[in-house]
Amino acid sequence: MPTSFPQKGRPKSEVLRELRSLQKDDADWQRGRCFAYVYQARDELNELLREAYQLYAKANAVNPGAFPGIKRMERQLIEMAAELFHLPAQDPAKAGTFTSGGSESILLAVLAAREHFRQKRPGKQGEIILSATAHPTFHKAAHYFDLKIVQTPVNSAFKTSPEAVQAQISENTALIVASAPSFPQGIIDPIEELGQIALQHDIPMHVDACVGGFILPFLKRGGVELPDFDFSVPGVTSLSADLHKYGYADKGASLVLFRDSFMRRNSFFTFTSWTGGLYGSTHITGSRSGGPVAAAWALLQHLGMEGYTRLAMQAYTACRQMLRGIEQFPELQVLGRPQATLFALASDSLNVYELADELSLQGWYIDRQQSPPSLHFNITAAHETVVEPFLQDLAKAIEKSKKRSGGFRQKWPLHLVNGLQRLLPETLFSKLRHGLASRLSVPKSGSRSAPLYGMTESLKKSGQLDELIKDLLE
Ligand SMILES: Cc1ncc(COP(=O)(O)O)c(C=O)c1O
Repeated sequence: MPTSFPQKGRPKSEVLRELRSLQKDDADWQRGRCFAYVYQARDELNELLREAYQLYAKANAVNPGAFPGIKRMERQLIEMAAELFHLPAQDPAKAGTFTSGGSESILLAVLAAREHFRQKRPGKQGEIILSATAHPTFHKAAHYFDLKIVQTPVNSAFKTSPEAVQAQISENTALIVASAPSFPQGIIDPIEELGQIALQHDIPMHVDACVGGFILPFLKRGGVELPDFDFSVPGVTSLSADLHKYGYADKGASLVLFRDSFMRRNSFFTFTSWTGGLYGSTHITGSRSGGPVAAAWALLQHLGMEGYTRLAMQAYTACRQMLRGIEQFPELQVLGRPQATLFALASDSLNVYELADELSLQGWYIDRQQSPPSLHFNITAAHETVVEPFLQDLAKAIEKSKKRSGGFRQKWPLHLVNGLQRLLPETLFSKLRHGLASRLSVPKSGSRSAPLYGMTESLKKSGQLDELIKDLLE
């Protein structure tokens, strides 16, 4: 039954009670049992975020003239980030935009590169060179902005190959993309080599530091040896860094920075013939709450370099403890050599999706990945206290997975749809089975070994997997 608009209003207490009850099936991020989506540091920081957010929640950042306080905070955040990422701009405030998240930051950077390309080669379709590990938002940007993706393979260490990128450069290249680090395996691309290629051909290069931007500089400060990844590297022309990831701010907070302010200008939109007045926009979104700006600003002020360095090192220590613990399980392999606080686990002998299901039965939330099948881990400061319990549950889950007649579920496209919404694995499994069954005209019922496995690749090629994902999004 569809929900009807309430005839009479309901008491505040009842509404709040229902809101709380809607949280009951959410991933348990408060206790560090979730390895995706939520970047949690300490509870008392959430209190500060809440208060700061509330102060500005109603204010609309779309008009800086009406809300100069928000404008000031955005400007200061950009200036602080410009310093953090070694941006040698003359006026750092002109070098960036505070956005709603990594996706918007990337969309603006790609739009700027496309405009730049169109100025140089009017009428031509620009190309983005990226590797298989780059975030899907670049594909989305290409889809929105009529650009072509030129995808290069990663090497065996899951790094973008500079040689492969070099081989794909053409007069239509509008942008080169590198990750610091990549989301799936947590690997930092060879930014310096890629920067040299970008410089040599005078092509913009974007560093996607959405996940790494607010941890890598602090890990370095804490003594961890890491390669340079920001504007200190010649050739890097733009960079995205999410405050709402390892900046531990509330969702809706990211920054995109440009080495040259004319590139940022390329991401702006103007319309001068509207009956409503002259219109100018620096964002993909229109109206924006001041809440995320205020919360991020407050947290940066409160933590400072020292606080962030402490949190970064806590996450790093927890991550190294996890990795050391995982070494004792010969069934599991870490993909590549993750340098920061994200990693992926694969297995030659176990079905890792089966393993994830076992762990989720024990209350852990873990993302599934593909090519190769693997499980994804984002380690934050809040995971410090769960390393031991996790490793104990992992040992049990490995034993259980060994006993199951594996194989079938690993081949399911289950991993492609995680993140769409939080569905229980079984619910998702049955939805997928029904969706696939109706598309492929095979019986909907049946055991787990229904004759559907192994079809992922052919489904991908025929476009049916895309349709299936749209079904789920619907
Ligand atoms: C490397 C990277 N880039 C981009 C994004 C997209 O960010 P958002 O989900 O904030 O839009 C993510 C998200 O995890 C990411 O890890």
